[in-house]
Amino acid sequence: MLKQASILLTAKQSLPLRQLLWTEHQGGQTGYHFLQSLTIDIPVADGSAVPWHMRIGYMLSMLKSVDDDTARHCQRVANITLALGTELGLPTGEIECLRWGSLLHDIGKIAIDPQIKNKPGKLTPEEYGYIKLHALAGAQMARQVMGDKVAEMIKHHHDHYDGSGYNQNVVGEDIPLGARIMAVADAFDAMVFDRPYRFAITREEAEEEIRQCANTQFDPKVVKGFINIMRQDALAGAGEAKNTMVGMPAP
Ligand SMILES: [Fe+2]
Repeated sequence: MLKQASILLTAKQSLPLRQLLWTEHQGGQTGYHFLQSLTIDIPVADGSAVPWHMRIGYMLSMLKSVDDDTARHCQRVANITLALGTELGLPTGEIECLRWGSLLHDIGKIAIDPQIKNKPGKLTPEEYGYIKLHALAGAQMARQVMGDKVAEMIKHHHDHYDGSGYNQNVVGEDIPLGARIMAVADAFDAMVFDRPYRFAITREEAEEEIRQCANTQFDPKVVKGFINIMRQDALAGAGEAKNTMVGMPAP
């Protein structure tokens, strides 16, 4: 028989994500702008573990239903990271982690107030603080389903190579390689598609921007691999036209 269960927490306890984040960030701040009572419910068989691919399928379905723009962005980033991971010679297991991490890398955005997430103008420092929490929120969700490796990629996908960015207290090669790869793919996609706060730039302009940020925002080895696949036009299929989930398991 099937019943409903939350995948945000262990089986012992179920709390809204907002409360989870509050627990993580007790620093005197008030007024977190998160959706109320956010949980992801999935059917589970009594007394047995839910297959991980089924859990991922439900998470991806939920992301698509709550925030289709972000789901599309995640698909495109996954296309790029797979090409980049292959170019960098990652083993198959690492590429699989990269695939799932990329598809889920922004899932934490479903916890962010849409009025902040889609604000066309400049964010206040407080609003930017909420946006930044999406990396941690996404890592918390993914950890329940995919384990620590994928969760750590998601947690650090906005960290910069030189220690700036979201700055989760890791620098350079201490940032998980998957997160460093995702950072380049994420930035490229963010630049070549319109965002609420700015218009897209060309692929060539975005490539140049990434090249200039090697050693500061990005790992130079990852940038070199990215430029190689740009030269090979390996990203030709990574655009919006290829609108399918990369390897998405059926929910
Ligand atoms: Fe992100």
